[in-house]
Amino acid sequence: MSKRSVLVIDTLRATTTLTTILDRGAAKVLTCASLDEAFHYKRQDPALILGGERHNQPVPGFDAGNSPFDYPPDLVEGRSVILTTTNGTQAVSRVQRAAWVGLACLLNAASAARRQQMQNFDALVVCAGTVGEVSWEDVLTAGAVINEWPERDWTDAARLAWTAFAANQTQIAQSVMQSRHAQHLLVSGMQRDVAYAARMNQSSTVPVRGPDGWFYHNV
Ligand code: MLT
Repeated sequence: MSKRSVLVIDTLRATTTLTTILDRGAAKVLTCASLDEAFHYKRQDPALILGGERHNQPVPGFDAGNSPFDYPPDLVEGRSVILTTTNGTQAVSRVQRAAWVGLACLLNAASAARRQQMQNFDALVVCAGTVGEVSWEDVLTAGAVINEWPERDWTDAARLAWTAFAANQTQIAQSVMQSRHAQHLLVSGMQRDVAYAARMNQSSTVPVRGPDGWFYHNV
């Protein structure tokens, strides 16, 4: 099998939050799939910030949830963060064997595409979705990433994502709001998180997996 560069997308909210954590000055972030694993790391190093969610809600015993607003600079600056979420960090676990892994969201779509283009591998974009279902906001984000690639490189799946993006790019925030996951978050009072995640190309930070498996700002 050819070597691949993979961009993982979970716009609501894991990859948006992880990008923000690094944007706000954290040293590094490790994604993990299970709560047990997260607590294990914290026992080994109590200085770690434990963050994430289950069913969109903060986990009892964790230091922070999965909202980008849970990670202000005065909390995260210079610190290491462990993040575990229902879908996003699971998707990252599934691409462990890829030669290069970066994280994308609407906030960093163009920068993430450019970083991926610098890798000399076959490029793949993986949408985390929501418990096995396609998520509209992830498809829109994939389309925003693909928009930065020359058309000759597109698969039919890429063309589908781009078509969704192209039809909605002038009203991307409203379009994200219509997604099922956004609607769930809105009902739970997380309007601010959805509005924040729906802003396109606001950040040049691209979380990239380092050789030790942690994500860093522009490795
Ligand atoms: C996930 O990984 O499932 C999401 O980030 C869920 C959420 O919005 O917290």
